Amino acid sequence: MDHFLYKDGVLHAEDVSVAEIAASVGSPFYVYSTATLERHFRLFDEALDGIDHLVCYAMKAASNQAILKTLANAGAGMDVVSVGEYLRAKAAGVPGDKIVFSGVGKTADEIRVALQGGIRQFNVESEPEMEVLNAQAVALGMTVPITIRVNPDVDARTHAKIATGKSENKFGIPIARARSVYAMAAALPGLEVIGIDVHIGSQLTDLAPFEQAYQKVAELTETLRADGHDIRRLDLGGGLGIPYANSNEAPPLPSDYGDLIKRTVGHLGCEIEIEPGRLIAGNAGIMVSQVIYVKSGEGRDFLIVDGAMNDLIRPAMYEAYHDIVPVVEPAVGIAQQPYDIVGPICESGDTFAKQRMMPPLKSGDLIAFRSAGAYGAVMSSEYNSRLLIPEVLVNGDQFAVIRPRPTFEDMINRDTIPSWL
Ligand code: LLP
Repeated sequence: MDHFLYKDGVLHAEDVSVAEIAASVGSPFYVYSTATLERHFRLFDEALDGIDHLVCYAMKAASNQAILKTLANAGAGMDVVSVGEYLRAKAAGVPGDKIVFSGVGKTADEIRVALQGGIRQFNVESEPEMEVLNAQAVALGMTVPITIRVNPDVDARTHAKIATGKSENKFGIPIARARSVYAMAAALPGLEVIGIDVHIGSQLTDLAPFEQAYQKVAELTETLRADGHDIRRLDLGGGLGIPYANSNEAPPLPSDYGDLIKRTVGHLGCEIEIEPGRLIAGNAGIMVSQVIYVKSGEGRDFLIVDGAMNDLIRPAMYEAYHDIVPVVEPAVGIAQQPYDIVGPICESGDTFAKQRMMPPLKSGDLIAFRSAGAYGAVMSSEYNSRLLIPEVLVNGDQFAVIRPRPTFEDMINRDTIPSWL
């Protein structure tokens, strides 16, 4: 459920007309709903009621500080995967002891910044990383809490580009090698082994792969405890999917997921962390765009809109489906027609949808790409020297620009010309 509904014939974000925002900030732009962000965070938090837990929002999904602050105020911790994310979370006021540091290629510099700034734990992904982390911690006279990310070799049954839990994926250490890697970690003076981490992929619409992975984590917990490790925290990753096509998709609810967690690892008495990103932010954001031209092609009509693959890359990159709706509510019973909805960028991959049924649209009309809150703005680029588009946050009947549209000078003046030119 989200808070983007038609009211008085116009799409609203909570109580604010999307057309009004467009008139104020121009097009295209992203707009997020505070109520949806908070609601989705709460669903996870409540799903883990009764066990000691922390929901660490995977901020890679949408990392504007206003979003981070909204979630942190609701009680969220953060999962970060780069020093940039770490510093952004800190800038948004998240304390270090609520930040977990994940990622397969943390550099010594990144590690040092997080050690100095304070961290809840590192999720270590390899032996060489463990050695670098140990050396940095020892140099600072610290002992740092770690989990080790294990790769459970489970098929997440999701898009290949976002599956992470099979042995051929670059993530984590093979679960079969876990005992020796834990033994190695325990011998390092700068590290305190406190738990296990797992994350098998994103946009999972079935609980079975989670169940397989969490059962393996439960078994490993017992084994490692028998080996003498004090395993007391389990980071179970993110990955719960969302409905993208409003019609008939019904992915499992956070409450089902919470029940599964309790069933598979609840008896171990560990503190539980989860790292959801998409389910919190995905349906809390839309991208609004304006039709530039309607062009008649050979046997098809193109809606050429002012948003493009650089603003929302998911369709081009993952063949992702996003619902696209007109901002002005179509009249009941109006005949729909198929359009290819495309951006202005100079490649055919800049296509959001092919033969999508829409009410008749014309130049100047606004449309909204739904479910664009996660992995939308954060994956945008300036390809074709297009400006990064603004982000807006709505809260009830108020809205605020949380990232303004830059000027062309801002973009162009970042280049520096070498002295020989
Ligand atoms: N934790 C770790 C270690 C992760 O790698 C990810 C996502 C998450 C948590 C959050 O997963 P979520 O709850 O959002 O599924 N750009 C792609 C998605 C990439 C996901 C990467 N890792 C997309 O647009 O579909």
